[in-house]
Formats: sequence, structure tokens, C-alpha cells
Amino acid sequence: MYEFDRLLMRKGTDCSKWDALRQTYGDPDLVPLWVADMDFPVLPELEKALAARTENSTFGYTFAGEGYYRSVIDWNAKRNDLSLTKEDILDVPGVVCGLSFIIAALTRPEDKVLITPPVYPHFFGVPKSQGRQLLLSPLRRGNERYEIDFEDFEAKLKEGAKAFIFCSPHNPVGRVWERGELENIVELCARYGTIILSDEIHSDLVFPGHKHIPILNVSPEARDISVTAFAPSKTFNIAGLKSSMLIVKNPELRGRIRALLDQFHVGVNLFGYKAAEIVYREGEKWLEELLVYLEGNAQFVVSFLKSRLPRVGAYLPESTYLMWLDFSGYGLTQEALMEKMRDKARVALNSGVTFGEEGKGHVRLNIGTTRALLQEGLEKIAAAFGE
Ligand SMILES: Cc1ncc(COP(=O)(O)O)c(C=O)c1O
Repeated sequence: MYEFDRLLMRKGTDCSKWDALRQTYGDPDLVPLWVADMDFPVLPELEKALAARTENSTFGYTFAGEGYYRSVIDWNAKRNDLSLTKEDILDVPGVVCGLSFIIAALTRPEDKVLITPPVYPHFFGVPKSQGRQLLLSPLRRGNERYEIDFEDFEAKLKEGAKAFIFCSPHNPVGRVWERGELENIVELCARYGTIILSDEIHSDLVFPGHKHIPILNVSPEARDISVTAFAPSKTFNIAGLKSSMLIVKNPELRGRIRALLDQFHVGVNLFGYKAAEIVYREGEKWLEELLVYLEGNAQFVVSFLKSRLPRVGAYLPESTYLMWLDFSGYGLTQEALMEKMRDKARVALNSGVTFGEEGKGHVRLNIGTTRALLQEGLEKIAAAFGE
């Protein structure tokens, strides 16, 4: 049994979630339920392997070894039924960095890039920072979950979207996309000549009853028109180790991305390679236990809201440790909502509008922490917002 009920002491390590509160919210003493990493100790085998690696003082130039590729390939075969070869994999330090390189390599200034808000803020920032135009096809809110509005999605593709940045599973709405939805996306993108950038960073964090389908497994056509970004960082809480990968089956697209990565000498830190190798090889049981704990946290939040804050809307997430909460029933402006969270509840959450206009009245809650800290945060929110 791994320990998920023990709060890791993270203060004083320069970690964003706990140590950047003053910088970001102007107050260092908030309950930090924002940045998307977790407060749990890492896989013990990883801690040991990294400690052992530091005993050998060889820290010179290092390449991705066979053990690393074996781990990545075996993990994807076992967890995602995805068959990969070494050649399919391009190493990048981070997923956002990878997305930036893909946009630079496969699109041109002024090209249109489609996204489906509310969505991860860098999906707006990456194309905009490179002078691409954004096309927005907002998700539609169904009875029990968010969905893609395919009529609008197709209309936006018709406007000439060169690329679609897809969040699969989706941050912040927690959707795990079903085969039918994925087939629609691929079919439409293929019809309009749109490349799919499938960000699958959350794909290991899927709750029972749902199954992540990699875009690459949708059809041969999907393999031709898509590039996947993938990483152990969210799953195993090692974002600071900077190890991520792009998976590209189409040799022509891969060649263009590889050329740009080579041009800028992009590389991964030796500890990143080692960490990816260890967690994918030895972390499956840890992940299974983590998922049980996180699902318990999600259920706890939903029942807490139902009994104590019934005006707040929330869906049970299908994936990941981020929850999208709808406070619009309080009729506050976004600024007033966030001020109340900070000054009255004294809790740090992500503001919904950073995920797009559709996020007005919403906040994103990070449940990747101990149940005790989560409860403390929710009690404070209830005290501030309760009737
Ligand atoms: C969808 C998505 N992509 C990428 C990232 C971050 O990736 P990285 O830290 O590897 O750049 C996040 C982090 O929350 C995310 O939610």
C-alpha cells in the first residue's frame, strides 16, 4: 500500500503550488488547490533510483538509452494497446514545449488553429505567441458531461483550420472521449486537411468505467494526420523532471518536427530519462492505488457540494485530478468570485476565465492532495459561500 494520506511538506522547495502563492495571489497563506501537480510522495522506487543515480557522479552528456525506450513502449502497449517503435518517439522536455515546436514546424504565421474551450490556457497561448489565429469551437454542456458541438466544430474546420489542438482527456472538464467522438473528429479533420495535435498528458489518469483511446488507435487515417504529446509528468507527479515525448507515426510530419527540434538543440535532462524509465517500468501499482484515492476525492467533493453548497454545479470527472466547478449561481463577476475565494475563503483556485470566456463563473479545483487538506479547503469555501 502506498501513502496518499500523508501530506508532503512542499513549502520551501520553490514549488509553484505552495511557494508562489504570494507572487500569484498576493497572499502566502491560502490553501493551495490550484497548479496541476499533486501533494503526494512519489513512487518510492523512483526516489531510490534517483538517489542511486546521484551516487555515480557522471553527469555529462547523456542519451535516451534502451531501458528508457523499452519502458515507454511497454507501458503504451500494456496500458493503451498502443504499438510504438523507437522511431515514433521524439523527446521533449515538456508537453507545452512540444506543442510549440509542432505549431512552429507544421503551421505558418497567420494559419488558423482550432481549440475547444474551456481548455488548458496554453492552448490559447502557444498558437497566439507564434502569430497564428485562433478558431474557437466551445464545448457544449450536456446533462451529465461536456460534449463537442460537432456542427460548430465542422463549421470552424471549414473556415480553414490548419491544426486542431485536442485535449484528450480534457482539462478542465474531465472528459474521456469515446470512440464515436474520436472517429468524428478524425473523419472531419481528415476531410478538411486539418492536422490533429492530441495532447494526451492526462491519459493515464482515467477512472473506472472509462477507457482512454489514443488518437493513434482510431484508424490508419488518424495515424497519418495526428501528432500525440504524452508524458509521465502528470501521472507520476514529476513535472519538474522535464521528460515528455511526441509520438508521430507519419514520417513526413515527424521529419519536419525532428528537424526543428534538432535546429534548436532540444534535449531532455538525464534525470528525466531515468525517471520516465523507472515510473513506466515500476509504477503501475502505484498508479492504480492513486486512481482509487483520487476517485474517492472526486466523490467526496461532489457529495460535499450537494449537501453544503448546492448552488455550485459540478460533474464527476472521468479523468484526472482537476475539477471544474460552476459558481455562476452566485451571480458574481469573475473578479468578485476570485476575490471572495482569496479574501474570505482563503483558498487558491484557478480562475475559470483563464480557460476561455466560457469559464466565466467557474473555478478549477485541484483534488490531487490529501482528503484532509481538500476538506479543509471545501469547509473554508462553504463558510464563505454557504447560505
Ligand atoms: C492538457 C495539458 N497539457 C500540458 C500540460 C503541461 O505540460 P508540461 O508541463 O509538460 O509542459 C498540462 C498541465 O496541466 C495540461 O493540463
